[in-house]
Order: sequence, then structure tokens, then C-alpha cells
Amino acid sequence: MKRREFLVLAAAGAAASSVRAQSGADLEPFSFCVIADPHGSEAAKPELERYGTAADKFMRCFGVMAEMKGGDAPDFCLVAGDIQLDGLKDRLKDVSTPLHMVAGNHESTPEKRQMLRNAFPGDFKKDGKESDYYSFIHKGVRFIAVCDAGAGGEHVGQFCSENIRPSGQCEWLEGELSAREPVKILFAHIPPERGGGDQNMFMSRNDSRWFNRLIAETRPSACFFGHLHQPTLEYRIGDTRMFQVRSCCWNFNREPVGFLHVSVAAGGVLTVRDIETGRCL
Ligand SMILES: [Fe+2]
Repeated sequence: MKRREFLVLAAAGAAASSVRAQSGADLEPFSFCVIADPHGSEAAKPELERYGTAADKFMRCFGVMAEMKGGDAPDFCLVAGDIQLDGLKDRLKDVSTPLHMVAGNHESTPEKRQMLRNAFPGDFKKDGKESDYYSFIHKGVRFIAVCDAGAGGEHVGQFCSENIRPSGQCEWLEGELSAREPVKILFAHIPPERGGGDQNMFMSRNDSRWFNRLIAETRPSACFFGHLHQPTLEYRIGDTRMFQVRSCCWNFNREPVGFLHVSVAAGGVLTVRDIETGRCL
């Protein structure tokens, strides 16, 4: 296993990924992890065959987490979509780290959404009723789970779809991002297009523009996305740290697989480490 400090790739003048987020001086420090795109039903890939199936590679992340001691031990793990729960559900009994998931385009059908809601009934609720989007508060930090994969499994993201239930996610998100907690962290599957362009693999043009503006106005501490199967990339919208997270299953151009470890310190300082769990032969 190889670990390295994750370097800020885009923020001008910043050398390391430890910055002060919004005020949260009385926060109790803790850590959590972010896993993207486990694609749990996929078979072993030739170039990553030594790490086994997708489910094996997902479990490998928790093997690394088990070695994290003290304040580094994650309180929970966010899973940013394209889960393919069918392939993972038999292994989840061996995962002691609590999981919080959002749907990806591989969970776009009503049946897959229901499976996810059934597996995690403590999440996927809004006002006590089933919902594809939800939030929770952990040690004073608000975590906002957004569903932006809807229309029939396509790769362009959106907030409104007959497959995203209940309707009204945009108004809900405006409220969540205006909530009183000083540190807010959002996660979803499909990232916004940075320039608000019309580009496959990102939120739609208009959703991207609305979302980017909302982030600039409400200034959450960080947003985490999966979907792209590229090396982890960080950039900023105003004060907000935006992360496109590498898959733990496979990435384009034979890039290593892995996940993120995030430490939240008193004062709202987030330190993010990009952790490799496998390299192609
Ligand atoms: Fe995806």
C-alpha cells in the first residue's frame, strides 16, 4: 500500500491541501474517508488482476482503513455512487466502518434506488420519508448527500428527474447549504462542469451553472464527486474545495486505484490524503 499527501493541483499558490475552512472553532476533530465508484459487480481486470474482483478492491480500502489509528481512524466512509450493491452486499457484513452512500448512474432505475434505500434505511430519508437525497450531522459538521444521477443511467447529471424522488431537490439543497452549521460537506456522484459547459460525464450545462453559483454563494467547506475514473483532482470554487475522486475499482489510462482520507480539525481545517490501493501492472 502506498500513501502520499495529496497536493492541491489547481489552487494558485497553495502547496498542500491543509487550509482553513469556514469557522468551526469548537468542533471535535475526527476523520472520514471517501470511496468513489466501487462498481461492485465487475470481475477482475487484467491489468489489476492481482487485486481480485471489484468487491475485493472495495474491501481492500477497509483493510487500509483498519491500519489507521487514533484520530486517523475514520468515523465513517462516504461512497460517492456507482456502487453496484448486488456485487457488494454479501461483503458488507465484514465492514465495520459505517457507510453513507449516494446513487450513481449505475443506480438509476427505481429498483436499484429501492435496493439502496432498503440497505441503508437510516439514510435516504427526508422529513421521515424515503428520499434519494438526505443529510446528517456528525460532530457538528453537516454532510449533504446529493442525488444527481437520474435519467435512465445516462452519464450527464441532473438534479430533477422522475427517477430522483421526491421532487424538490434543488429547493432542499438551497436550504441545506444555508443551514447554520459552519462546516458543511457535500457529496454526489456526477461532478459539475467547472466552466458551466455542455459536456458529457458532468452535470448538464444548466445544472452546472446553477450549482456552481450556489456553491460560490453558500461556501460549503468541500464537495466530493466520483464518476470520472481519473486521478483525484482538486480545484476551488471561491473558498470551497472541490474534489473529483479516483475510483477504487479502475481508472482510465491505467491510473492507480484508491480512496481519500479526510481529517477535520478544530477550526474547520480539512486535511485530505489521496491513498493508493493498487497500481496496474
Ligand atoms: Fe458513474
